[in-house]
Amino acid sequence: MNITVAGTGYVGLVTGVSLAEIGHRVVCFDIDKEKVMTLMKGKSPIYEPGLEEMIIKNQTNERLTFSFEPNIAYSNPDIIIIAVGTPGNSDGSADLSYVKKVAKDISKYLKKDKVTVVTKSTVSIGTNHKIKLWIEEDANADLKVDIVSNPEFLREGTAIYDTFNGDRIVIGSENESAAKLLEDVYRPFNLPFVHTDIESAEMIKYASNAFLATKISFINEIANLCEKIGANIEDVSKAVGMDRRIGSDFLQAGLGYGGSCFPKDTNALVQLAGHVQHSFNLLESVIEVNNKQPFLLLQKARGIVGSSFKDKKVAVLGIAFKPNTDDIREAASLILIKELIKDKAIVNVFDPIARHNVEKVFGDLVNYNETIEETIKDTELVFIATEWTQIKTFTISKYKELMKTPNVVDGRNCYSLQDMKKLDITYASVGRKTIIRENV
Ligand code: UDX
Repeated sequence: MNITVAGTGYVGLVTGVSLAEIGHRVVCFDIDKEKVMTLMKGKSPIYEPGLEEMIIKNQTNERLTFSFEPNIAYSNPDIIIIAVGTPGNSDGSADLSYVKKVAKDISKYLKKDKVTVVTKSTVSIGTNHKIKLWIEEDANADLKVDIVSNPEFLREGTAIYDTFNGDRIVIGSENESAAKLLEDVYRPFNLPFVHTDIESAEMIKYASNAFLATKISFINEIANLCEKIGANIEDVSKAVGMDRRIGSDFLQAGLGYGGSCFPKDTNALVQLAGHVQHSFNLLESVIEVNNKQPFLLLQKARGIVGSSFKDKKVAVLGIAFKPNTDDIREAASLILIKELIKDKAIVNVFDPIARHNVEKVFGDLVNYNETIEETIKDTELVFIATEWTQIKTFTISKYKELMKTPNVVDGRNCYSLQDMKKLDITYASVGRKTIIRENV
């Protein structure tokens, strides 16, 4: 099948490349010419394990091309998949301007009289019907547009794996032929299909992300309570997760959730509920708990160094919003760094691959380092904000050896309390007892 994917962000690019891999002819379109030129050279603009190899393979076998020209990308496909960004507006709702632009370009450039338009971008309920209207109001009267809502559930860092091993493919459509066409597209993945109406498919995406965010905020609140009553969140989390009705995933306490989806989608769902006069108090609390989490860690750290970070050398290890990605959008680390800068600390940062993105945000306000050793040398406190393998497997005795004062505040519970107890350092983490070094 001839498929055009609009948008070459994480979702669009991974989707387009994976569809080429299973045998479709795919054009990945983006308005960003520079990005498209990079892709044409077989280079991935984002870090995603396995993606670049798959791009090159499918370019070579001529199933995958890239374009920044809408007249080429939208002229002849059987299916157009919309995977452009829907950033949050200032009120939390989703900004649909990129989606609308795609709809308008489809009506302008499509040369066929039938097309199926599939939305993967996370959009507010009812948007798919709007997309159909936006296309039809300018198009030739004979054009038949079928719309399908087909949300994605990819995690950054494992997006290719998730595409081929997902739990379900949700197809929300208004007629059977469109649903059948999408089944034909995705059949080689051999994953279960769930057929729904369009509104339900749109809601499934929001509900899934909101539920996962709720699990995270819930376990963070339990962790905060554990600290107060002297319990250990790791043991609590493990045993709670062993109940199959609850499940062990997304019960890792820490600095809270970040990234391009959870913060945006939880806010959008609260907004959406407001528009139909429904107060989503539960989700509002989930967001509030998440927003507070980095500040609790900062409070702990301030307590350790003695109220302020002024003129103190402090390190932040891990900036990406989670391991195996260079994405720093809504990363909790950014809040830590901003607060440290505000307090006039000297800030050293380290991330194995996200440095280029961090530089765009902080420029020369912080010091960048290539190794953990350099980053922590002579510092008075180290924050751990992302559980990268490099950080989890770091020789912990070096904290004691290299730091001026060995204070480690671990926002991701990377080390076992038993191991840390053997070193004479102060070690604070989330939902576990703080270890205080002697002679403080
Ligand atoms: C998420 C969803 O998982 C995916 O289905 C959706 O399509 C897009 O949003 P992603 O944002 O890539 O994927 O990351 P995910 O692995 O879900 O982690 C999100 C955030 O939650 C990260 O900041 C992570 O550190 C945090 N998290 C996750 C926790 O704090 N604890 C956990 O137990 C799990």
